[in-house]
Amino acid sequence: MKPSVISKAAIERLGVKSELIPKHIAIIMDGNGRWAKARGKKRTDGHRAGMERIHDIVKASQDIGVEHLTLYAFSCENWKRPKLEVQALFSLLVEYFHKEIDELNRNGVCIRIIGQNDNIPDNILRVLRHAEDLTKDNPNLTLNIAFNYGSRQEMVHAVRNMANEVAMGAIGVDEIDEAMISSHLYTAGQPDPDLLIRTSGEQRLSNYLLYQLAYAEFVFLDEHWPDFTVDVYYKAIRQYAQRSRRFGGLG
Ligand code: FPP
Repeated sequence: MKPSVISKAAIERLGVKSELIPKHIAIIMDGNGRWAKARGKKRTDGHRAGMERIHDIVKASQDIGVEHLTLYAFSCENWKRPKLEVQALFSLLVEYFHKEIDELNRNGVCIRIIGQNDNIPDNILRVLRHAEDLTKDNPNLTLNIAFNYGSRQEMVHAVRNMANEVAMGAIGVDEIDEAMISSHLYTAGQPDPDLLIRTSGEQRLSNYLLYQLAYAEFVFLDEHWPDFTVDVYYKAIRQYAQRSRRFGGLG
């Protein structure tokens, strides 16, 4: 991350010492449907309002020097939703990139799509690949979009790849350790999240980054995702900064 990207004013507004700001934040953007229902709107209106929050949160992350931001956009289990809702979520993702890709690229954001390609229509995959290719060498924030993502599926993918490498003689069984497993996950090369935020009052992981979150701090907020302003984001980071992280030791 180039230091020039970081805003002193933003860090002052946050009120947390730089060294206590998480390097990697993962978010479960929950509550779009309930937000919409409470306003007599359609669920897809809630998803649209949720999509519109992402711009500010990406910018705010860069301003305070967060290096990796991972957003849960669509889980492997979300296929169980009505077809129209699934299509609306895909369209919103495409719309997001159409609207934002130039600014993201100008700001040095590197986009990575983490998840499975199966069943994703070609036109959607093309937009996602274009966003990744265009931004792959960008040095600032890495924005992971978890799309058609499931952590158990990710682990199956990793185990199969390692088994193939063992079968081909590329690696030995004894070489399989924690670092090698990490390097076979979709998030290979990135540090584990320091902080997990889930909005809308639910307190579960929903098959999200199960391996990577081993030592993350969890912050659960009552706000629904469409109400997730930069102030709410800062509130979560302040809670994180007050935690004592011991990683199983004595601190
Ligand atoms: C959970 O709310 C949210 C999702 C399943 C999708 C999140 C998608 C977006 C924020 C918009 C598109 C994303 C990008 C990256 C452009 P829910 O529908 O489960 O809410 P509910 O629990 O209140 O029903």
